Amino acid sequence: GFYVGTAVAGGGHHLEQDYPDPFSSDREYRKTLAKQFSSVSAENQMKWEYLRPEQDTYNFESADAIAEFAERNNQVVRGHTLLWHSQNPAWLEEGDFTKEELREILHDHITTVVGRYAGKIQQWDVANEIFDEQGNLRSEENIWIRELGPGIIADAFRWTHEADPEAKLFFNDYGVEEVGAKSDAYYRLTQDLLEQGVPVHGFSVQAHLSMRYGFPAGLEENLRRFDELGLETAVTELDVRMDLPESGEPTDEQLEQQADWYQRTLSACLAVEDCNSFTIWGFTDKYSWVPVFFEGEGAATVMTGDFERKPAFYALRDTL
Ligand code: XIL
Repeated sequence: GFYVGTAVAGGGHHLEQDYPDPFSSDREYRKTLAKQFSSVSAENQMKWEYLRPEQDTYNFESADAIAEFAERNNQVVRGHTLLWHSQNPAWLEEGDFTKEELREILHDHITTVVGRYAGKIQQWDVANEIFDEQGNLRSEENIWIRELGPGIIADAFRWTHEADPEAKLFFNDYGVEEVGAKSDAYYRLTQDLLEQGVPVHGFSVQAHLSMRYGFPAGLEENLRRFDELGLETAVTELDVRMDLPESGEPTDEQLEQQADWYQRTLSACLAVEDCNSFTIWGFTDKYSWVPVFFEGEGAATVMTGDFERKPAFYALRDTL
């Protein structure tokens, strides 16, 4: 009942445009993906940008491939994501829609996408990153909240639940590992929604950690308070990035510290009763998003670019 997952690389802006999709072209990658993991998440392939190239088009090719791969390999799937401020297609962000039209666009998307994979998705990140660092709703950046008001969040959970009553429905965010303004905002919101009978089932922390800062030691305490609300919890996007020395190769001390942080994150999840899903955001540095998004940092996953196992790989294995 405990799932260890990874994001499946593909479609990322950090991969060069003509870079072959690792999921379909890299044998070693697929072998490791099939063998080491019991859960998979689409790194990009279920985002609006990829599913909805045009308003009237759904492109399910890559998402279907992941769902089929998971089925063949007895893996569960985490769906990511339905309501987000980022990676939305231009036709949506720049379109001139009435409120009624926008509402219908979201409803149709959720019904179509969630319905297509109904019964195959263990957990959906229904709402992703809806709060800013201060714990305020992103009511400017997020098109849905801006145009339709905060009530759209509850509607998104209701529509998802209607389309797939089996899937567990999550809020997902970064910077919410510990108790603080941002995670407090989720705590209050989920409590509120639960009281109203909205089908919210889980709260998940992405856990994109950087060795520039300290380890989020309050992780277990924070997961536990959501657990006590009656929610499932999960770690959904763990990676541990570091400043790379001139050589480009991490030092042994860096690799040890990284291993320790992977292990402590897993241990926190294992210690909390309904934290049943633990996902790392890619397993090889070969395809990691980190070096492109965080200047000077890298080597954030559990395997080198040559699929060599780092100390972090063994730390996770030995903790499970
Ligand atoms: C990242 C992907 O890894 C990149 O390939 C893409 O270019 C940008 O998005 N929080 C999330 C993920 O919820 O969807 C993000 O994934 C990382 C941060």
